[in-house]
Formats: sequence, C-alpha cells, structure tokens
Amino acid sequence: MFQPSPWRDDFPAIAALHRQQQTYLDSAATSQKPQALLDALLYYYGHGAANVHRAQHMPGALATQAFEHCRAKLAAWLNAGSAEQIVFTHGATSALNLLAYGLEHGFQAGDEIAVSALEHHANLLPWQQLARRRGLRLVILPIDDQGQLDLDAAMQLIGPRTRLLAISQLSNVLGTWQPLGPLLAHARAQGALSVVDGAQGVVHARPDLQQLGCDFYVMSSHKLYGPDGVGVLYGRSQALAHVRHWQFGGEMVHLAEYQQASFRPAPLGLEAGTPPIAGVIGLGATLDYLASLDAQAVSAHEARLHALLLGGLQERQGIRVLGAPQTALVSFIVEGVHNADIAHVLTEQGIAVRAGHHCAMPLLQHLGLDGAIRVSLGLYNDSDDLQRFFDALDQGLELLR
Ligand SMILES: Cc1ncc(COP(=O)(O)O)c(C=O)c1O
Repeated sequence: MFQPSPWRDDFPAIAALHRQQQTYLDSAATSQKPQALLDALLYYYGHGAANVHRAQHMPGALATQAFEHCRAKLAAWLNAGSAEQIVFTHGATSALNLLAYGLEHGFQAGDEIAVSALEHHANLLPWQQLARRRGLRLVILPIDDQGQLDLDAAMQLIGPRTRLLAISQLSNVLGTWQPLGPLLAHARAQGALSVVDGAQGVVHARPDLQQLGCDFYVMSSHKLYGPDGVGVLYGRSQALAHVRHWQFGGEMVHLAEYQQASFRPAPLGLEAGTPPIAGVIGLGATLDYLASLDAQAVSAHEARLHALLLGGLQERQGIRVLGAPQTALVSFIVEGVHNADIAHVLTEQGIAVRAGHHCAMPLLQHLGLDGAIRVSLGLYNDSDDLQRFFDALDQGLELLR
C-alpha cells in the first residue's frame, strides 16, 4: 500500500531529483534540505552578510544576534542546560578532533580509552591517534555476531584505568541503538569522561542531554536536514572547562601580545576564526522547521518505511542483512555478488544508495566483509521510493546471479 510522505514537498530537491529519475536513499550520508533552510540562507545573504562578535555596525550586530540566537535555540532543542555549553564546529568530525586535542593534557601513559567495535572512523581515529601520541591503551568494546554491543564484556572492560569512553548513539552501518544508559553510568562511576557521537542518532531521536548523562555529545548539521560545514559540540559545564584551546586565531582570544596571549573560555574560546555563520543560521531555521512537525507522525512514518525496507530485503533469497537494524537504515550484502556490482546496477537505474565500508573499515573487517550496500531513509522518502529500489534490485539480482 502506498505510504506517502506528508513532508516530501517541503524538500524541493526531492522533486528535482525525481525529474532526473533519481531516487534518494542515502540520507545517512547526508540529507536533502527543507525550503525553510533555503529561505533562511537566501535571507541572510540577501540582506547583508557580516562577521560575528567583532563589528560594531548594524549588519554585524544583526548577524551576531542571529548567530547567538541559534546557539540558544540549539541548547533548548537538545535540553543542554545553557547556550554556553554549545560550541559550533565545522562538523561532527571536527568536534571529535577538537576533543581529542583539547583533552590530551589530561591523559598519562598507560591510561585507557574505550571505544566500541562499531564506531565510524570519526569516532575511532582521533582517539587512536591520541593513544599513539600519549602511549595510551585503546580498548575495543566487542560486539556479538549480530553486531550488538556485548554489554557484559563492555562493563568489565571499562574499569578504573579507563579515562574516557567514546561511543556512538546509533550505528551508521548497522542501524542499531547502543545501550548508552548503563555504559555512561558505569563510565562515570569509574571516573571516566564520556563522549557520545550523535551524528546519526540525533536525526531519529531528539536527545535530552541533561537526562542522557554524558560529558560530551557531538552532532552534525548536514545529517539533520541542515547545511553542511556545521557541527555541534555540547559539553557539561565542568567537562567543557577541562577542554584546552586547540586552534588559535581570531575570535577566541582575550588579550594578545607578541610573545603571549590569554584566551576566552568556551564556547567562543573553542571557535577560532570565522565560524560557519550562514550555516548556523540555516541550522536554526532547520530546527524551527523540524520543531513544527508532528514528532509522533514522523516516528511512525520512519518506522513503517524501515519495516518495509527490512522486510523486503529479508524475504529475498541470498540477501544477508547486517546485524539487527532498528531504525532508519539497513546494510546488506548479496551472497556471491560483490557490493560494487550491485551498487553499479542500482546507480544505472537511478537509485542513490551507498556502497563500501561506510567509514567503518574495522567493523566491516570484523564482519568478514570488504563492503556492503546501505539504504538509508529520510523523512521525505515514501513507499514508492522503496518499490523503485526493490524493482531495480530484483533486476540487478537477475542480471548478476
Ligand atoms: C556515526 C557518525 N559519526 C560521525 C560522522 C562524521 O560526521 P561529519 O560528516 O559531520 O564530520 C558520521 C558521518 O557519516 C557518522 O555517521
């Protein structure tokens, strides 16, 4: 039965892609953008761009006001406590690198950092490289055959030597939610800091950060229907105060002399240089748009589509779904056919999905694979999109097997 998306027309690119016979099923890589965001960008650039936190003039004051208003909006949206706890970065990757450099001073040789076995490279490599710089031990929290984190093993591996736990909220490959509640509580009891990579999770479940109980949370605007080039780092006030300045230049300085300088505290102290002003304003407009939607209707629509996608794949012969996906995306392989060949056939038929290692090479290696196809959903997708995907897949399977 046709299940239309009530929000499809809010995203002009979906119609444009359709006119080019393209079905977009790669929202976990990046999302399409709502008209509300396009309007906000046009307004900002059309009415006078200006740099923030420095100019006295009217456009500068307006830009600063709009920019800081978005910081407050984001803090409220995430239930962060206060706007001072929100640092703007250039993406989730840059937020995680900021942390890996800014927290480096607190580690000593022999300390441990724990990460799960299914992290995106963005939440693995900064910690791996920090461990190498400082002689730390990177502890990998294992997953079972279904790709689920082995919670008992993880609880044992996080111990008194653990100084930091870095874990994603939702896997970008397996579509599984991680058991954050017990892990974060246990890490805190051991005196470790915790970092949650919410790049995927924030899109499908609006977090309550005060309740979640992590020290840091990072997210990325472009996956949440916002502009690219913007990321967010949230920190608990005490934890944020522990992060050292890591990039130096304009905006973040308090007083500068030739031989020395003093710096502002977070958030501005961690935002060296011109921040992504238009991007932040655009993210604010996107949040307003998302807040205007019926959250229950969005969840129900996503759940229906996900079930349709998962069920359709599971009922086809020779397809192996990776793990036990719970939301928004499904990765799979076709026995005996290389994922690049499947991707090629789908691409030829205008189906935009992602193939490869999904920036999680160690996880794919652990699963004994060199790649997989990932189909991921946005709130503009509907059952017709999935029908077109399955038709193309069936044709591809006939051709390739
Ligand atoms: C789980 C996860 N973490 C981090 C990132 C990196 O995000 P960004 O593109 O904002 O750097 C991604 C992007 O795919 C992701 O899926």
